[in-house]
Amino acid sequence: MPTSSSAAPRGYYGRHIFFCLNERKNGEDCCALHNAQEGFDRCKAKVKEAGLAGPGKVRVNKAGCLDRCAGGPVAVVYPEAVWYTFVDADDIDEIVESHLKNGQVVERLLLPPDVGR
Ligand code: FES
Repeated sequence: MPTSSSAAPRGYYGRHIFFCLNERKNGEDCCALHNAQEGFDRCKAKVKEAGLAGPGKVRVNKAGCLDRCAGGPVAVVYPEAVWYTFVDADDIDEIVESHLKNGQVVERLLLPPDVGR
């Protein structure tokens, strides 16, 4: 897993982060019950504020269920395919500053590889 690369990878977007915002109406657990929307909104705002948004830079997107619900809320960053779980605004700020801006994976927020649905 890449842990350092200060240069953003090539592509229409240098990095792409997807947040699961899935909500289940049947009472089953889902990322929407764990402040996923707040995390997404915070990330979007911080990326914009840092001047990171746009072609060649960073794109923040909503996603449906990513099938790793047991670790929710979850987000994944491409092209590195690094999966995160987060709790609060500080976690999101660290992902933005460290990974999305500087290419440094935030080890403490990594979703364990065996977490599934
Ligand atoms: S509900 Fe978020 S990964 Fe499934």
